[in-house]
Amino acid sequence: MTTQQNTDRRANQIATTVVELRAFFAHHEGYAMLREQFEILLAERCAALAAGRPVEARGIAVIGDTGSGKTTAVRHLLRNYLPEAGEDTAEVASFQVPSPATLKHVGYELLNALGYPMNRLPTSMIIWRKVRFHLRERQVKFLHLDEAQDLAINQSDKEKIDVVNTLKSLMQEPSWPVGLILSGMPDLRSMLNMDPQLARRFHPVEFQPISAARSGGNIMQIVQAYGAKARLETASGLGERDFVERLVHASAHEFGRMIELIVNAIRERLYAGGGTLEAVDFAAAFRRATGVVDGVNPFLADQFQHLDTRMLRGGMEL
Ligand SMILES: Nc1ncnc2c1ncn2[C@@H]1O[C@H](COP(=O)(O)OP(=O)(O)OP(=O)(O)O)[C@@H](O)[C@H]1O
Ligand SMILES: [Mg+2]
Repeated sequence: MTTQQNTDRRANQIATTVVELRAFFAHHEGYAMLREQFEILLAERCAALAAGRPVEARGIAVIGDTGSGKTTAVRHLLRNYLPEAGEDTAEVASFQVPSPATLKHVGYELLNALGYPMNRLPTSMIIWRKVRFHLRERQVKFLHLDEAQDLAINQSDKEKIDVVNTLKSLMQEPSWPVGLILSGMPDLRSMLNMDPQLARRFHPVEFQPISAARSGGNIMQIVQAYGAKARLETASGLGERDFVERLVHASAHEFGRMIELIVNAIRERLYAGGGTLEAVDFAAAFRRATGVVDGVNPFLADQFQHLDTRMLRGGMEL
């Protein structure tokens, strides 16, 4: 085999490992709360249906900053409830709010996603009536809307009220109320709080920022578990408080961003020949992702606590 072929083979192996690592779901506290809440609501909904009793649909609002892992968590939770291709009914439908998020456009795209495209664009009222009809036809018990904060962004007060009323009408439809799972950034909370009737029907699940103080031991185990999947040892320094604090800070305190960083560090180590995962691999991964110079790399800088890791770009001095 030529040197070039050897290099290609190794790159392919590393790429396969990285893809496998990215597909792995790491459990966390926010996910446990979400799953518990969803299972309660689903069980109550099924019991009410079996008993032929009318139900009041309820909702879950999954709220967290960018990179906290909302989309990944809801996708993982719902994976067993989404319909197979060709199935007529679906317990759950999942949908990403499109841009621009006018009520009419959202309804139109939602109909499309439910498998009932319209070739003309009637009024918003007609579109949403059809949405409610098809949700009932397909027996959808829960509808997930990702990026739900966009429903209220850049909208006039009148449009925001229309959004709130539309969501309420889905949940209060007498013949087939639909539970909502809304995931989005913290602005989502203000949207729901616009209407006390809507807010009362939602259970909030917060994806809180991670902290070394609260979950240091857990974080160390996650790093080790990911390393082991890639057949790497983990340097003992990665269990120390200083490293965990740097990792949390570099991830802007967001769980998902931390996992991305761990996988990227593993990739650096694999390209460096494998062996033991070290802090320098994390520094290299951060450098590659952001282009920063070592002086502002949170894995290398002395005063890393003051670095704004959300904004670090292009090696600028902060
Ligand atoms: N539980 C998890 N296990 C493994 N990887 C995760 C997990 N949660 C998040 N990630 C990783 O973090 C990345 C960011 O997560 P995700 O896209 O779910 O965040 P988000 O909260 O939806 O962010 P945004 O608000 O920007 O859409 C994902 O691409 C995934 O690689
Ligand atoms: Mg998301």
